[in-house]
Amino acid sequence: MKNIKAIIFDAYGTLFDVNSAAEKCKDKIGNKWEGFANYWRTTQLEYTWLRSLMNRHKDFWQITKDSLDKSMKAFDINPSMKNELLDLYKVLSPFNEVPEVLKTLKEKKYKIGILSNGTPALLNELIESNNLNDFFDSVFSIEEVGIYKPSSKVYDMPIKKYRIQKEQVAFLSANTWDVSGGGNYGYNSIWVNRSNNIFDNLDYKPSNEIKNLKQLLDIV
Ligand code: LAC
Repeated sequence: MKNIKAIIFDAYGTLFDVNSAAEKCKDKIGNKWEGFANYWRTTQLEYTWLRSLMNRHKDFWQITKDSLDKSMKAFDINPSMKNELLDLYKVLSPFNEVPEVLKTLKEKKYKIGILSNGTPALLNELIESNNLNDFFDSVFSIEEVGIYKPSSKVYDMPIKKYRIQKEQVAFLSANTWDVSGGGNYGYNSIWVNRSNNIFDNLDYKPSNEIKNLKQLLDIV
């Protein structure tokens, strides 16, 4: 991959493990914790797409709470766990390789950014609680444009700020639909396929597929 100026990461699922909140409660939730975590995540994403289409924006924290409500009912989880799950969602763990990879990319002098559905406050808390403050040049939140991914208004933000071409961006996401969104927009979209998933049929095939972020260092 040549002439890359900026490396832009999706946050939830790519840098930070969205299942880690439910996993930390698995003693209380029991074996269904993983099904519950996946249902919560899927409902949360559906709400982002639906609200964008309905033109009824609510921020990502509200959507996270709304989708948690439905998911707790669907999996018959004790309502007293709601605040614990939400508190854990604010301090999700990064995947193991993240700090080392960010450090190496920083040394290589790339612009490094996060581009996420999360609110600025949520993203800053994730970064600070995991001691990742030193690595990011920019944190782009969709709150700036008021519509969720995969709107092109979202993917436009880094291009405008850094005054670079779309092809000069390497965009990384573990979410297949987000890889398609960034790729259709014009980024070099790289799929972080941590668990051997199947890619979408949405008119774009990722320029690269990696199993974890460490493999990014072989590409850029
Ligand atoms: C984000 C979601 C898509 O961080 O994971 O934008």
